[in-house]
Amino acid sequence: MNRGIQIAPSILSANFAKLGEDIAAVERGGADLIHVDVMDGHFVPNITIGPPVVRAIRKVATRPLDVHLMIDQPERYVDDFVDAGAAMLSVHVEAARHLHRTIAHIKSRGIKAGAVLNPSTPATALEEIAGDLDFVLVMSVNPGFGGQVFIPQSLEKLRRVREVLSRAGSSAPIEIDGGIDATNAADVVAAGASILVAGNAIFGTPDAEAATRALRAACGSAAGSRA
Ligand code: DX5
Ligand code: ZN
Repeated sequence: MNRGIQIAPSILSANFAKLGEDIAAVERGGADLIHVDVMDGHFVPNITIGPPVVRAIRKVATRPLDVHLMIDQPERYVDDFVDAGAAMLSVHVEAARHLHRTIAHIKSRGIKAGAVLNPSTPATALEEIAGDLDFVLVMSVNPGFGGQVFIPQSLEKLRRVREVLSRAGSSAPIEIDGGIDATNAADVVAAGASILVAGNAIFGTPDAEAATRALRAACGSAAGSRA
């Protein structure tokens, strides 16, 4: 299956003082989703943004918001982020004590629910929940900061997650997040990822629009293209 690759620029590396302009640039470049990283200073060391900012972004973005919760007890904030305009909401298996309930809650609100695996969490952690997930997010860096180096074992992890999903009868998409750039995009697609998050590789360049196009091109023939 070579179609349906989605590019999800992470605004973590954008200029927060001109977020609307930066989002418009990646949308011109063909971004499929806008990836929003929420960090609480507990589950991860960093603190970023909350529902009011998501609500403001929702007003200017034309692409769905893919909200990645790197927070403890994410169930406490599901409704707030749905109400703020998330179209996809993902929670870490390491942070969600009652993951099945939280995934069911997200889906009951009519948006897509995803589970996230830290680099040290095995793919098998998804075995009992795989059939309920709309997508899986595989972290290819330890969460908390943009601009980190891709962990090479993530390629094998992608293959293992695909096996777990297949055994559950699911063909849910796998998202990959952390250190993605033009040098590894084709590899992660070949290993089973179909949603590529990129922060530094897009907003760390002088031209985020061109960088978004370049990342899709780097996926090779697998990437398809937005018209
Ligand atoms: C890391 C975040 C990522 C981050 C990716 O904790 O979840 O979404 O923004 O940034 P890059 O692409 O720079 O690794
Ligand atoms: Zn993220």
